[in-house]
Amino acid sequence: MPTIAIAGKGGSGKTTIAGTMARLIARGGREVWAIDADSTPNLGITLGLSRDASAAVQPIPRSILHEDKDDEGKRRLTLGISPAAVVDQYAAPTPDAVRLLLMGRVDHAGAG
Ligand SMILES: Nc1ncnc2c1ncn2[C@@H]1O[C@H](COP(=O)(O)OP(=O)(O)OP(=O)(O)O)[C@@H](O)[C@H]1O
Ligand SMILES: [Mg+2]
Repeated sequence: MPTIAIAGKGGSGKTTIAGTMARLIARGGREVWAIDADSTPNLGITLGLSRDASAAVQPIPRSILHEDKDDEGKRRLTLGISPAAVVDQYAAPTPDAVRLLLMGRVDHAGAG
């Protein structure tokens, strides 16, 4: 699956561009997974959710990560389930059928 990552200076339009591109591609008939990794996520609003619906989207839980050690004894984190299963279980639907995933939300100071 092709991947597009949007990065840049604060307030430069990353979320607006990412959300608009995601909606246009989804309207064109492609399956789109949108991942908001911002600590204060707001991509859902750009994807067409209300403020309340966007705030109610639950982040992907840490419990999907499996921790073990590699051959050199170093800590290793792997995904315990397939990416498609993550989307099926945790993605929120949005008006243009973009499937929204949240990760990285910080709910209060010291919780990051
Ligand atoms: N092309 C544009 N022309 C004018 N205003 C824009 C444009 N793109 C975004 N904006 C406005 O600029 C502000 C910041 O946009 P946005 O939230 O997309 O930026 P961001 O890079 O995601 O910000 P942050 O770093 O806070 O996540 C918003 O108020 C948005 O409506
Ligand atoms: Mg942003």
